[in-house]
Amino acid sequence: MKVAVISDIHGNLLALEAVLEDLKDVSPDMIVNLGDCVSGPLWPEETATILRETDWPTVRGNHDRFLLEDPFEKMGPTDAFAAERLSSDNLDWLRTTRATIHLSGDIFLCHGTPDDDNRYLTEKVEGPKGHLPDEEALLADIGTERSPVICCGHTHIPRVIHLSATGQTILNPGSVGLPSYEDDHPHKHKMEVGSPHARYAVMTKVGEDWNFQERILSYDWDAASREADKNGRPGWARALKHGFYGPLS
Ligand SMILES: [Fe+2]
Repeated sequence: MKVAVISDIHGNLLALEAVLEDLKDVSPDMIVNLGDCVSGPLWPEETATILRETDWPTVRGNHDRFLLEDPFEKMGPTDAFAAERLSSDNLDWLRTTRATIHLSGDIFLCHGTPDDDNRYLTEKVEGPKGHLPDEEALLADIGTERSPVICCGHTHIPRVIHLSATGQTILNPGSVGLPSYEDDHPHKHKMEVGSPHARYAVMTKVGEDWNFQERILSYDWDAASREADKNGRPGWARALKHGFYGPLS
């Protein structure tokens, strides 16, 4: 059994196309999407049109929820850009996403933590940057969820974390479409993976255990960066081009 885990596409059509091309080689049995599909100053409608035609089990990310549920005037520019451009068919598809998914006896999918799509599981933010949480904090955040593999996104930083206390593994595949960003929740900070590549993960069951592989793909990030610039988002343009955010605004 081979499962491709993608997350945080954020409307980056060019990065998604690189992933789709790579998936032809990987040939997984199943592809899952951990959410934050379309928000961002890139190609939300085109991205949603591709995703709508897949049968990928898809989790609703915090940004998917914001653009579905928040009044337009309360949205930040990242969600408003997508909300203004999504067709009713693609909005209807986005509404089919679910907060969490138990994929099988082995695999649980969520966006942030199992009970909060807007809380980091695999990063702890102290000061302006994130770092690996300790095991006690991770156990507290997963609560009663006991699936052997917990897949989450939201932080855009790839990690595989093994919890010795329970034998569980947490996989965060990183982000397909946005390698760094700044955010002001819970306070102003930035996440930086340090390269502009599109990322996703592949997990393969071997006997009773899972092996994990990170796929790190080149694509035309200069074109994505130019699109963000053209749409008035210089921070996104910098992040897409370098994988570093640079100084906080
Ligand atoms: Fe998110």
